[in-house]
Amino acid sequence: MSKIGIFFAPKGGSTEKVAKKIQAQLPDADLHCVADIEISEMLKYDKLILGIATIGKETWDQDYKKSGWDLKLPVVENTDFSGKTVALFGLGDSVTYGLNFVDAMGILGRTIKKQGGKLVGFTDTKDYNFTESQAIENDQFMGLPIDEDFEDEKTNERITQWIKELNDSML
Ligand SMILES: Cc1cc2nc3c(=O)[nH]c(=O)nc-3n(C[C@H](O)[C@H](O)[C@H](O)COP(=O)(O)O)c2cc1C
Repeated sequence: MSKIGIFFAPKGGSTEKVAKKIQAQLPDADLHCVADIEISEMLKYDKLILGIATIGKETWDQDYKKSGWDLKLPVVENTDFSGKTVALFGLGDSVTYGLNFVDAMGILGRTIKKQGGKLVGFTDTKDYNFTESQAIENDQFMGLPIDEDFEDEKTNERITQWIKELNDSML
């Protein structure tokens, strides 16, 4: 079994908290904040778990720039991810931002796919209340959405279930 790299941003909030919970269930996995590394670091792993928070479009320029992914996304867009198996998780708020729920996970997922990565860990939408999301493909979320703002009581179970399914497709 090759090692898994977990890469997340931003630092210091719910995305980091969830990344640590995921690592706790995959003790062999390494954990990195995207803001602290070069994208080339990701290429050391064949199995990647990438975490990203969605910060709304209207504040994208101000807030998203601080996250780490904004600086690295142009590099991801020019990196070859073929041979990599990639699972995504996305932090969002399904109540306040129900029209853009976890959009950033979709933006990242499509970029990785375009660059040759194989996405795994899709999630059924039926357990979520939202209106629209750019993170949907074939009626499924392209990774695991987590809503720490309004559904934090569901987080642990969602992670456990997701990792159970990842065990078949990735680990
Ligand atoms: C200014 C702002 C804009 C946001 N826009 C969205 C959004 O468009 N879609 C969404 O699902 N969540 C949105 N959220 C919710 C965050 O993604 C959510 O609170 C997340 O847990 C933040 O992660 P962090 O604590 O790691 O920064 C927004 C939050 C803020 C503060």
